[in-house]
Formats: sequence, C-alpha cells, structure tokens
Amino acid sequence: MTDEEEMVVTPWEVRGKVDYDRLIKEFGTQKISEELKQRIFKIAGEEHFLLSRDLVYSHRDLDWILDKYERGEKFVLYTGRGPSGPVHLGHLIPWRFTKWLQERFDTRLYFQMTNDEKFLFTPDLSIEEVHKYTYENTVDLLALGFEPENTYVIDDIKHIDLMYEIGIRVAKKVTFSTARAVYGFDNSMNIGGIWYTALQAVPAFLHSEIYGVKTPCLIPCAIDQDPYWRVARDVAEKLGYYKPASIQNKFVPGLAEGGKMSASDPNSAIFTIDTPKEARRKVMNAFTGGRTSAKEQRDLGGNPDICSVFLYYKFVFMPDDKDLAKIERKCRGGEILCGECKQILAGMVEEFLEKHQAAREEAKDRVDEFSAARLRDDLRR
Ligand code: TYM
Repeated sequence: MTDEEEMVVTPWEVRGKVDYDRLIKEFGTQKISEELKQRIFKIAGEEHFLLSRDLVYSHRDLDWILDKYERGEKFVLYTGRGPSGPVHLGHLIPWRFTKWLQERFDTRLYFQMTNDEKFLFTPDLSIEEVHKYTYENTVDLLALGFEPENTYVIDDIKHIDLMYEIGIRVAKKVTFSTARAVYGFDNSMNIGGIWYTALQAVPAFLHSEIYGVKTPCLIPCAIDQDPYWRVARDVAEKLGYYKPASIQNKFVPGLAEGGKMSASDPNSAIFTIDTPKEARRKVMNAFTGGRTSAKEQRDLGGNPDICSVFLYYKFVFMPDDKDLAKIERKCRGGEILCGECKQILAGMVEEFLEKHQAAREEAKDRVDEFSAARLRDDLRR
C-alpha cells in the first residue's frame, strides 16, 4: 500500500501520512499564498510564527474576509472542541491562533463545545462524561487567557435553544445523500450523528441571527474539520447568511513516528493535565531523527525533518525563528545529540504545564462568565 492510499482525514479520524497539499486539492480549499500572509501581517501589525512557518496553511475566503474588514465590516470568529477527553497540546494550536486573531482584529469569538457530537460519535462515552469534559476543556480554553467580554462558549446540550431554529433550517437543506457523500456515513450511523452535522454549521450564523445583521465569520481550525464547512458554505446563502470563511492549520504530530497526536493513544500526546513528570517521561521516549550511534550522529548530524522533538519546537515551544534556526543548525551539524535535545524540550514542556495548570486552577470558577447563555438576553431584545 502507498502512503496515498493509507491517508484518512475526516473530522473523526486522522491516520496515515498526511499529505497536506493533496488535502487542499481534495477538499477544494486554497493554499495561503505569501502575498496573503503578508497582507494579514500588515493588517495585524505583527507576524505570527504559525503562519510564517506554513503551519497555518490553508483557507477558504480569507481574502474576502480581509477585504470586508478593510472596508470596515467586522467579522466574528468561530472555533470549537469536541469534549471527549482531556485536551492535548495539538488542540491548543488553533485556540492560541484564534486568540491572536481575536486580539489583533478585535473580534468576538463563538466557541462551540460539541458534547452532543462526542456523545453520538463515541460508542462508550456517557452523557455524564461529556458534561464533565465540557467543563474541563472549557477550563483549558480559559487558561489561555481569553476574556469574557468577547468570548462566548456554547455548550451544545445546554444551549440548544439558541441554535435549534437555525439548526433545523440548515438540516432541511442537506439531504442524506449529501451527508453520506461528504461525511462517509453508512447505514450503521445513528440518526443523531447525521443530525449533528447540521449543528456544527450553526455558530457560523448565530451572530447574524441574534443581531439581525449579516456578519462574516472566520473559522480557525485544523484541516480535518473542513467537510463541515463545505456543507455550511453550501447552505449559507440559501438561508440568507454569508458563507463562512476558514483558516486551517496542520496537525501537531504525535511523539511516536508519523501520524498525529491522538487522544486514543495517551503516549502519543502530551495532555494539559499530565503531571510534569509524566510529560517528561513521554518526551524522553519520543521518536527523533537521530542516528544509530552517538559517533555517527556527531559525524553525520541528525535529521530534524522527521523528528517529533523538533516539530514540537516548531509548532509550540520556539516561536522565535532565531531559536529554532539555532537548534536546527546544531542538530544537522551533529553538535547536539538527541538525549540533550529531549532534555531541553522536557524542561520547556514542564514549565508550560506548571503555568498552564496554575492558570487552569484560576479559571475553574470563571466558566459561567463565558457562557453563551448570556446571548439569550440579546436574542429576546
Ligand atoms: P476536536 O475536539 O477534535 O479538535 C479541536 C480543535 O483542534 C484541532 N486539532 C488539532 N490541531 C493541531 N494538531 C492536532 N494534532 C489537532 N487535533 C485536533 C481540530 O481541528 C479542532 O480545530 N467537531 C470539532 C469541534 C468543533 C469545531 C468547530 C472545531 C465544533 N465547531 C469549529 C473547529 C471549528 C471537534 O471535535 O474538534
């Protein structure tokens, strides 16, 4: 089997070697061009490493969003999380990028917690568990420093009244044959899962509906969520809304060789609630681009291109290009061996976790401040 045949990227499953250019072609999105990147940096007033390193790499209608913005028409941001377990470092990528967009463009964020999706799509997950993870994952989101004035967390099960009417209007426009083609459903799919797919479109339209003003929406996420936006864009104009735009990132890889960080394989991922010691153990066992012996590595250098440790620097821990270039040079030149390099990353991960976990503690009794229940008042006005 070739790598091409093995790649599977759906909103519920990512496996095989991910060919990001091929996904752009298959999903029908666009690569973020150098020109578009520079345009964002100019408007934002600063660069962002995820964009400059092409880790945020694909989009739909981003140029259109910027055109509107420059003409004074503000957009809202929309992103989310399927709370089926603890949050890992990969999930934080689109959230941190969203926070940057929110601050630089001074926009409102709608954040959807799809506890219904996870309940319906995960065979052994109970309602109690999805409620628990909705809370726990919201705490992770808040620990990143979002502010309630501009951030609305939608708990699908608790806030369905805000979304139901838009949801049924979306659902009426999507046939089962479309759902089957886009999401790959077969006859064993429960009917709740089929309905759910309509609900993920709703937050993109919610602002327009509540305030009665057609408002552009930009969705930051990893590329796996794109099928949802294809359907949302298909129905948007028929319902009187703008098509949602999106900006999509690549996956933070797992600590093992190849593949993405996966919640179903605890050793492949660093979770925000791992103890620093546990996280250090995972890092020290990570797959690297090292040679078979220290002598060989000193003579020939390592290979950061396939090294999960280097990818963690690149995606998460070394936003400064100078730091990244320095470690890359040392690796390729055989100046640093994998053991030492892992120690450096382990220290960074420990420090991050200590800070994040302290921020989680502070966020724990602030969850209600961010609740989308506040929108009920606006809806009634
Ligand atoms: P979920 O919980 O699978 O993932 C949450 C967000 O993280 C992205 N993501 C990753 N990014 C980088 N590296 C990884 N290894 C990685 N794994 C996941 C996902 O693309 C997502 O952006 N159905 C959604 C919840 C949702 C949503 C949305 C997401 C509802 N509305 C709008 C984005 C935008 C889900 O289960 O995401």
